[in-house]
Amino acid sequence: LKKMFQRHQRDARALQHGAVLGAGIMGGGIAYASALRGTPVLLKDVVQSQLDLGASEARKQLTKQVKAGRLAQEKSDHILSTITPQLDYANFRTVDVVIEAVVENIHVKRSVLLEVEKAVRDDVVIASNTSSLRIDDLAAVMERPENFVGMHFFNPVPVMALVEVIKGSRTSNSTVSTAVGYVLAMGKTPIVVKDCPGFLVNRILTPYVNGFLKLVADGADFLQVDRVMEQFGWPMGPAYLQDVVGMDTGSHVSDMISAGYPQRMTPLVNNAVKLMVQHGRLGQKAGKGFYQYE
Ligand code: CAA
Ligand code: NAD
Repeated sequence: LKKMFQRHQRDARALQHGAVLGAGIMGGGIAYASALRGTPVLLKDVVQSQLDLGASEARKQLTKQVKAGRLAQEKSDHILSTITPQLDYANFRTVDVVIEAVVENIHVKRSVLLEVEKAVRDDVVIASNTSSLRIDDLAAVMERPENFVGMHFFNPVPVMALVEVIKGSRTSNSTVSTAVGYVLAMGKTPIVVKDCPGFLVNRILTPYVNGFLKLVADGADFLQVDRVMEQFGWPMGPAYLQDVVGMDTGSHVSDMISAGYPQRMTPLVNNAVKLMVQHGRLGQKAGKGFYQYE
């Protein structure tokens, strides 16, 4: 491991400023994790209320650190000031790494990636936080695929240590090393994985969630399943986990992984998650999902 990290350190490009695209559940958390460990970030979204949410989440996390006596108020104020919420690409030429965390939709992601390539310098590393899309499928439209890599964080970002770094077939070693360096700078644990639908963790997690959805379609009570899995020793049951992840994201991830491994993941009939997407029950971010939060 030590040798691996030394090699990445040698190959990594300098990293002083970052940027995050999308200020939702993940983008807000990634921006906070970056700023907390000393890398200032531009945080771009297309919706002002999402930028406000991203900033208020960071403020909430910092206030918790101050109250716990782990951070001085002055330091907390400074960290918050290093997250710059914005609706445009102003100052993107000053950043060294961009992490895209917009909705899990290949068309939206491709158009955002094309846009950001035009806004940054040629040597900038662009990473996607996609949960399930192949890096090569996203890179297909890009002008500089050698600078493109997957950086898959887990939810909730402030707590979860693991980050999958995904090397596409055209990703350069220096790009992988820069992504690994950024993950380490955030105090998190990188694992470099190959490019495939769902990478490593979601190829394990998604069949588990689908198994749960099949039980629900067969008439199981989701509350009982959640209680059972908690008693089994897991921190939360699959219904609550779907509320945390977001129904729209969960649904896209499941579709992508099912399409990638049709023999291993048979299609879901009477899929409760799809039904909830139709009814706007997107989970905690919408105030309602399997559970009610309002
Ligand atoms: N946001 C920020 N901080 C949180 C948090 C949250 N949602 N939940 C807990 N914390 C913090 C607590 O405030 C506490 O902080 P302090 O130590 O500073 O007080 C700390 O984490 C520990 O909290 P708890 O003791 O209450 O909780 P825990 O340690 O027992 O468990 C957890 C916390 C690890 C997040 C646990 O709830 C867990 O494992 N949840 C499941 C998470 C999971 O499976 N994530 C993957 C989702 S799928 C995904 O991300 C991939 C994808 O592509 C869709
Ligand atoms: P979210 O719905 O909470 O946030 C998505 C954000 O993207 C919104 O704020 C939206 O306004 C913004 N957005 C949409 N189009 C945009 C554009 N053109 N430019 C800038 N911003 C734009 O979603 P999320 O849960 O944060 O997921 C974001 C990405 O992270 C997805 O690829 C998802 O698969 C991945 N991911 C999600 C989780 C999770 O548990 N939710 C975990 C790991 C990875």
